[in-house]
Amino acid sequence: MAAGQYRSAYEQSLQDPEGFWLEAARAVHWTKPPGSALDDGDAPLFRWFPDGELNTCFNALDRHVEAGRGEQAALEYDSAMLGVRKTYTYSRLLDEVARFAGVLRSQGVGKGDRVVIYMPMIPEAVIAMLATARLGAVHSVVFGGFAPAELAARIEDATPAVVVAASGGIEPSRRVEYLPAVAEALGLSDHEVTSVIVKSRDGFAAAAADYGGQWLDWDEQMAGAEPAAPVPVAATDPLYILYTSGTTGSPKGVVRDNGGYAVALTWSMKNIYDVGPGEVMWTASDVGWVVGHSYIVYAPLLAGATTVLYEGKPVGTPDAGAFWRVIQDHRVKALFTAPTALRAIRKTDPEAAELAKYDISSLRTLFSAGERLDVDTYEWAGRILGVPVVDNWWQTETGWPICANPRGLEPLPPKAGSPTFPVPGYDLQILDGLGEPVPAGTEGNIVLKLPLPPGTLQTLWNNDARYISSYLSAFDGYYATGDSGYRDEDGYIFVMGRTDDIINVAGHRLSTGAIEQVLAQHPAVAECAVIGLADALKGQRAAGFVVLKAGAQVQENELVKELVALVRRRIGPVADFKQATVVEALPKTRSGKILRKTMRQIADGEEYVVPSTIEDASVVDELVPVLRQAGQRG
Ligand code: COA
Ligand code: AMP
Repeated sequence: MAAGQYRSAYEQSLQDPEGFWLEAARAVHWTKPPGSALDDGDAPLFRWFPDGELNTCFNALDRHVEAGRGEQAALEYDSAMLGVRKTYTYSRLLDEVARFAGVLRSQGVGKGDRVVIYMPMIPEAVIAMLATARLGAVHSVVFGGFAPAELAARIEDATPAVVVAASGGIEPSRRVEYLPAVAEALGLSDHEVTSVIVKSRDGFAAAAADYGGQWLDWDEQMAGAEPAAPVPVAATDPLYILYTSGTTGSPKGVVRDNGGYAVALTWSMKNIYDVGPGEVMWTASDVGWVVGHSYIVYAPLLAGATTVLYEGKPVGTPDAGAFWRVIQDHRVKALFTAPTALRAIRKTDPEAAELAKYDISSLRTLFSAGERLDVDTYEWAGRILGVPVVDNWWQTETGWPICANPRGLEPLPPKAGSPTFPVPGYDLQILDGLGEPVPAGTEGNIVLKLPLPPGTLQTLWNNDARYISSYLSAFDGYYATGDSGYRDEDGYIFVMGRTDDIINVAGHRLSTGAIEQVLAQHPAVAECAVIGLADALKGQRAAGFVVLKAGAQVQENELVKELVALVRRRIGPVADFKQATVVEALPKTRSGKILRKTMRQIADGEEYVVPSTIEDASVVDELVPVLRQAGQRG
């Protein structure tokens, strides 16, 4: 185990969490400082800083302007899609956020009301998030790659007063019109919103005016807007809801608080990411994901740093040098991206010849998360960039890293394939299925002893029961991460994969159960299984195996096209579902459970053991060649 700063911070955080986090809370501006750290009166639900009051937007913006840093860049918008760049100083961002908060207020949005944001990577998305936070309201950002039905499910659950949208997003191959999707989602949902506010972008067919009086134009509203002051809220009040895939078709609304999140993110910027005031962090994700919420928007701004908002891809916009160009142009100190983006660059430019065109001397560290950082990619990135490559493991639910190499606190010797050690605040243990600790080197369920540190989820929106049954019931006194892994003899953690039906496609979290629900809606499909197959570029890809209804008259290639279109239509292009195969039967246990894990192991060419509970072993024998072929199609 490592000695020194890390070890003593980690031990203190577990032995005296109250002392540790009250000390960290001093870095945040409170309208009423917290007198105590943890409220455990409602265990297993916990609240941090129960008597503290603050405004998260004030901490992200006003505070830095008041400290005299108004002219420093807060946000650098860099659109590789449009070839446009725009700098927002802290003063300018504050002005726009305060005025948009005024617009939301004029639509009746107040403390605790929800605002759904469906926008691409444009500054207005960040402005809408911060403006919502300024009013003490609660945002829920929905990623643009989701289809109307997914947007509708989130509107239905979050019951927002207002939806904020843009007229569209730009993908390399096409322009994605957002407004028809918003209109369809509102039609699918029973919930009525007060208004839809639309940021109009050039080159899109639809505009707010096409949809009637409830639909308002962003620019027109901003022209006459009165700035709104920050509204202090309880530290325990929600800042946002972020929906993420569960194992069923209905997404889980992860609830994040204000106070704990501000404290944890501020701590993480200094101690993990080593980025401070005036320094530049670029997180190449999307504001629709947790990585975007935490490390594009809130954390860099809470720290008084500059954040880069990049609208583009790692390759093809225009080439595999795009990331290096952004590092050079914005003097990026810390780049945070997903392994799939690095693999995409490597595939196009294996020797990183593009790098020679740029000066990336500002770069100190490459952070990677979203999926397991494979050893090949880790070594390649370290070799071409010549800086430490730091894997960090976490999830939408936790909001900030569970395991990382704390570069600011104490850089620890890295180990390929490992996100290093548990971060202070997380009491990480590895348990077998019966809840007993496993020895070093043995894989088991990665769990976190309750209470979780500040910044992690409080509960699921309007659904404490689902929070408890999904996360807190499997191992008494622990939060189950849903990941399996092991701790090696030196204490390094290795995260190996999910224990449930969640898969990770290009760093995007998807539920195979949700895709199965869509396939099952096809009239020719009797039953189906969706599994995540290993994919050299995207980590995993979803593949469907369907059994036809007796007498169904369909051509397999036509059916596959229809199934692909159905998933795209119901879940969205983000599912990236392209592969389906008709099979005679699916392997099942005698109790009817489909053996998805065995199917995946066969397809990926791994060793497999057919469980003794199998109903009919000959089904597996017949499937082996089909699965092997499916596995090789990547
Ligand atoms: N709005 C609408 N559609 C979107 C979208 C958005 N915001 N984001 C992606 N899509 C679409 C894409 O256009 C694509 O559609 P297509 O099937 O018509 O081509 C589909 O969803 C799949 O997209 P993607 O998974 O991004 O695949 P890709 O082949 O276009 O790009 C990568 C591959 C690796 C370059 C890309 O996935 C990438 O940059 N990944 C990094 C992901 C990331 O940062 N994740 C955050 C986790 S921290
Ligand atoms: P999301 O909630 O979308 O961030 O996805 C979280 C899940 O992605 C985790 O539970 C892991 O399965 C996986 N994941 C994210 N980061 C890593 C990482 N650094 N190493 C391994 N798996 C990761």
